[in-house]
Amino acid sequence: MMKILVFGGSFDPVHKGHIAVLKKALQVVKPDVAHVVPAYHSPFKDKSPTPFKLRMQMAKAAFSPLGDNIVFDDYELKCGGKTYSYQLVEYLLKRYKNAEIYLLVGTDCLNDLHKWKNAPYIFQNATVVGGRRRGFSEHKADFKHIFLPGSFPKMSSTRARAHILASGTIPEDKVPPAVGEVILKNDLYGLEVHRWLKTHLKPNRYLHSVNVAELCAILSDIYDVPIEKAVQAGILHDAGKGFSGEELIKFCKTHKIKVPFFDDICHFEPHLLHSYISAWIAKKEFGVKDKEVLDAIKEHTLGSLEMTPLSKMLFVADISSKDRKYKDAFVIRTLAAQDLDKALLYAANRKLWFTIDSQKWLCPLGIELWNHLVKCAN
Ligand SMILES: [Fe+2]
Ligand SMILES: [Fe+2]
Repeated sequence: MMKILVFGGSFDPVHKGHIAVLKKALQVVKPDVAHVVPAYHSPFKDKSPTPFKLRMQMAKAAFSPLGDNIVFDDYELKCGGKTYSYQLVEYLLKRYKNAEIYLLVGTDCLNDLHKWKNAPYIFQNATVVGGRRRGFSEHKADFKHIFLPGSFPKMSSTRARAHILASGTIPEDKVPPAVGEVILKNDLYGLEVHRWLKTHLKPNRYLHSVNVAELCAILSDIYDVPIEKAVQAGILHDAGKGFSGEELIKFCKTHKIKVPFFDDICHFEPHLLHSYISAWIAKKEFGVKDKEVLDAIKEHTLGSLEMTPLSKMLFVADISSKDRKYKDAFVIRTLAAQDLDKALLYAANRKLWFTIDSQKWLCPLGIELWNHLVKCAN
């Protein structure tokens, strides 16, 4: 009987964890043919933002060196819709008469296999192959399986994407060079945002945006906020900061951007308009639709009475990122990792004092935020 190994996934992008697990599976199972099947539309996600063609290109770049018995299969593209693993097994059994199917799954999938659509069919018709992670209980494996020996790097495509969006660089420890080339060539995962920011912001402001995005990524883990939202808000929060006061006012008028206390802000502190313009740029220039992200960007200078954890994180990260050299920045940054609300109160306090010390106008929104935070703290 022919042995067919099958490895499906979004591969958005392929990371070194994928390569390690496929390499080991090829050594252990010794299949006659291995099918790599990029998902057209993963059953676990609403929509894959990267075109199928490019994810297929990344898969070819990453996996081709592993052997010449690998078939890069566009089965899911041909299906043109949501497909499940059991359908993949069904399809391979039809394609290869009299074959043994080995379904390679991600190390983090083993615990949930029973929840997969039509799981009994998979268990009846295929052997599940996967690396094991700590915490997986052996007794759950009441199906034909092969656990791959050794340990596999704990990586995720989401984190690789977040790294690229935050820093504008390819994480070489996670993404193989051949995949990095496809990403660079096609401007994937937010590289175009970085190019735009570099041409519209001064170098220090660009660096600050990267630092804020990276701090947001760290805080997102602590406060259970999706890392991609955190990084998106962080990297774009000062997109409108390159304009002069006059330009900011003109921009708001031209695009009819609504700003509370607009006349006072224009008169006293037009630079406060940049957060509203940054949110506009995020939406119109880069297609950000997520209201939580857009609100966080809007609120990063003056806050609001209904700040989400994402909004609080960005407010705090903006004032305490590692490029901020005043002495309280470190205190706020440290506090942010322990208690976000306390850090927010501290950050709002510092902001008010900076304004008062420089004898500038205090926006009523800032005062309102302060009173609200004091009420919440007591
Ligand atoms: Fe800002
Ligand atoms: Fe900022």
